[in-house]
Amino acid sequence: MFLVRGKACRVAVAFTLLLLGGDLPVWSANDTQSIKAAWQPTQDSLSCAKRFGTSQKVTFIMVADPGTYSGTPESSFYVGAVQSKNDIPANVTSCSDLLTGTIFNQPVVVATSGIGPVAAALCTTEMLQCSSLIKDFIYVGTSGWSSQLGGVLNAPGSCKEANPPRDLARIGDIAVTPYAANWACKLADYSGQCKGAPNLCSYPEEIYGPQEARLYGSCIFTAHSKATLSLADELISATRTPQFAANIAALATDFEKTIAPYETEYFAAMSNGTGHQYNFPPWHGPRVWDYNVAAEIDSQFFYSGVPWDMVARNYTAQTLILATGKSLTQYDVIAVSAMEAVGVAPAINLHNGMSGYDQVPYVFVRANSDYLYQPIQRAKSGNGWETVDNPPPANNSVNFRFAIGTSSTAVLTMLQLRCFQSAGNNATACAYTPLQF
Ligand SMILES: *[C@@H]1O[C@H](CO)[C@@H](O)[C@H](O)[C@H]1NC(C)=O
Ligand SMILES: *[C@@H]1O[C@H](CO)[C@@H](O)[C@H](O)[C@H]1NC(C)=O
Ligand SMILES: *[C@@H]1O[C@H](CO)[C@@H](O)[C@H](O)[C@H]1NC(C)=O
Ligand SMILES: *[C@@H]1O[C@H](CO)[C@@H](O)[C@H](O)[C@H]1NC(C)=O
Ligand SMILES: *[C@@H]1O[C@H](CO)[C@@H](O)[C@H](O)[C@H]1NC(C)=O
Ligand SMILES: *[C@@H]1O[C@H](CO)[C@@H](O)[C@H](O)[C@H]1NC(C)=O
Repeated sequence: MFLVRGKACRVAVAFTLLLLGGDLPVWSANDTQSIKAAWQPTQDSLSCAKRFGTSQKVTFIMVADPGTYSGTPESSFYVGAVQSKNDIPANVTSCSDLLTGTIFNQPVVVATSGIGPVAAALCTTEMLQCSSLIKDFIYVGTSGWSSQLGGVLNAPGSCKEANPPRDLARIGDIAVTPYAANWACKLADYSGQCKGAPNLCSYPEEIYGPQEARLYGSCIFTAHSKATLSLADELISATRTPQFAANIAALATDFEKTIAPYETEYFAAMSNGTGHQYNFPPWHGPRVWDYNVAAEIDSQFFYSGVPWDMVARNYTAQTLILATGKSLTQYDVIAVSAMEAVGVAPAINLHNGMSGYDQVPYVFVRANSDYLYQPIQRAKSGNGWETVDNPPPANNSVNFRFAIGTSSTAVLTMLQLRCFQSAGNNATACAYTPLQF
């Protein structure tokens, strides 16, 4: 009791001293102006040029994992391509790693934010202090996907049969989208979330979903300036060129050796369980899925299982409806699950919404490194669906590295095409070095 009183007493004394000290400022309208001015982000072109090592606008490439999760830093292949490298010491930035230099004669910054939306938002916000020198911003990395467009099961309604095979997603496939949603924005309870368990064909019930901003703030990010959509379109088009086909060919051997055996086992087990045939054409490169079917659906837990995928697709559909005005359901989209876009998008949107600053176009590029659920079969209990008895083990170090390889090839090809354009198609100046696996 005494201690508590003592503390209260000291606080009161301190407060009185403060009042008596006469140091309490009285703000005038002019002071407010100058305070505002002091808080403007550094847009000092000299110090930004010093930071980025160039006074030209840079392409910003940001990734999450420094290699702690999968063993392959997500920046690996960009770092390998950077010329005139300058490593920024970790003690002067909130990003986990920063490298400046050029790729295909274009100034770039390759940043590793660290994993998760908080790290991503902090690193992005700091870099936006130099938005006057940012040409465009690409957040790129790995992600977990539905095995096919519209998923393998959809409750309620279609639990008798698994969905017919349609637009299968392969390891290394790439989503290019400026849209994102936060999976974790929901109000729910145990009995609703787990209703129907252990039958996998059960749709978790919730009280509120991600559109209730009054409960959790903004959870759906659909801002898309013209420049943002053209950046997404430029990247998508780059992957449809002969140049991309040539660049990705270096990964074909790796695909056959390390990815194909897993994919074959995964879909053989799925086929055994659903009775459907899943046929793949020979691999000639990843399929690139655009922002009409994919948004980045983020969460801070590594979720898996059909019910979570159904919710992820429902939230993805909600996001794409708001972004595109199209009428969509969970059958029409694919879940692309990651973590960082819900940190990056609000950071850049806030910046782009302030007057007087350079707008930063941005896009999320995510390659499929793992499936969001194991193959399924009819439940032995006779009630619905369950996971197959011995799901094929995924080798994440291999699958993640491959996904990092395909997404890096997409981004690097876009930069290479820009190089051709500015160097008058000079093949020597814009030569591509195949990624080393
Ligand atoms: C604010 O600043 C202007 C010019 O610097 C001055 O003319 C004006 O008197 C100031 N107003 C106040 C309330 O201090
Ligand atoms: C940051 O680290 C570098 C070495 O990596 C060192 O030279 C420099 O003095 C450090 N700066 C600060 C502000 O601590
Ligand atoms: C196919 O499914 C049956 C039971 O549903 C199981 O006993 C068998 O091992 C499975 N075969 C393969 C290749 O997964
Ligand atoms: C999402 O699921 C809810 C039920 O929880 C449903 O009312 C809504 O129509 C679904 N939205 C989409 C876009 O699929
Ligand atoms: C994954 O693949 C790598 C490379 O082939 C291999 O060294 C490693 O042992 C594998 N890991 C597992 C868990 O199978
Ligand atoms: C093409 O680029 C290379 C390397 O940058 C340079 O040496 C060469 O002069 C260029 N050729 C033409 C025709 O510009």
